[in-house]
Amino acid sequence: MVDIVPLSSYPSYIDLLPSIQTCNITNLPENYFLKYYLYHALTWPQLSFVAVVRPKNGYAAGPGKEYPKVVGYVLAKMEEEPTDGLAHGHITSLSVMRTHRRLGIAERLMRMSQRAMAESHRANYASLHVRMSNTAALHLYRDTLGFEVEKVESKYYADGEDAYAMKMDLRSMWIDWAEIERVDKEKLRQQEKEQKKTDGDGDDDGHPDEGDEVGELGKKDADKMIRVKVGRALGVGDLVERNEAQGTS
Ligand SMILES: CC(C)(COP(=O)(O)OP(=O)(O)OC[C@H]1O[C@@H](n2cnc3c(N)ncnc32)[C@H](O)[C@@H]1OP(=O)(O)O)[C@@H](O)C(=O)NCCC(=O)NCCS
Repeated sequence: MVDIVPLSSYPSYIDLLPSIQTCNITNLPENYFLKYYLYHALTWPQLSFVAVVRPKNGYAAGPGKEYPKVVGYVLAKMEEEPTDGLAHGHITSLSVMRTHRRLGIAERLMRMSQRAMAESHRANYASLHVRMSNTAALHLYRDTLGFEVEKVESKYYADGEDAYAMKMDLRSMWIDWAEIERVDKEKLRQQEKEQKKTDGDGDDDGHPDEGDEVGELGKKDADKMIRVKVGRALGVGDLVERNEAQGTS
């Protein structure tokens, strides 16, 4: 089974950076120093994801332990100096091992990263570059995910090939925190109201009983009520750490 996990999850998938680098070198001509992967993982831990096949006996970090096998990854970041002044995410690199292609892994990696860009960083859009000859990736970005070609960047790649600069609007994925807070507050208010109602029902601590008369049956039950000790009366006070110094001075 293939799991898609954030690079930031526990146990630390940072251990997997060398395997992610191997996956990149195997699948793409655009390669990066290991420290560039680490920079992504440390700076935008929510945005990069890795597709792993876990070892049969489970995964626990430590010497001699078997690591999950990396079969795909998406390395993503927030643009640090956006020329248009709009906060946006950027897909630095994406690839899936040949053995695991056409299983929907790239689509899932991309969708998870895009969602994280919108939810964690309020990114306006996601951008990326793709070789004009890369039909598989173009299909994925344009037809499956809904990216649009913004422009052609001439000789973008080291071998002279042009790139499509693509982008996708993410604003519909933003979280409305003010609305969430409002709903939470309303829930809390309701709970407090319910609690007050329950506390006020037939107790013996001065609250008026707003319910209907219960007649003889209710009286009988009231007779049976017994008082129980709470708080300090239970001896809780003895469990509280004492300031020993006070006794000796
Ligand atoms: C591009 C790549 C990441 C796709 O990975 P994947 O896990 O096989 O893709 P998915 O299974 O998620 O496919 C999702 C969609 O992508 C498109 N797609 C994927 N592979 C395709 C192919 N060989 N031909 C045409 N369309 C393809 C399809 O639209 C597909 O949807 P569908 O299966 O419903 O038709 C993978 O082929 C790869 O790693 N290629 C080499 C590295 C690379 O080019 N990276 C992108 C750099 S910009």
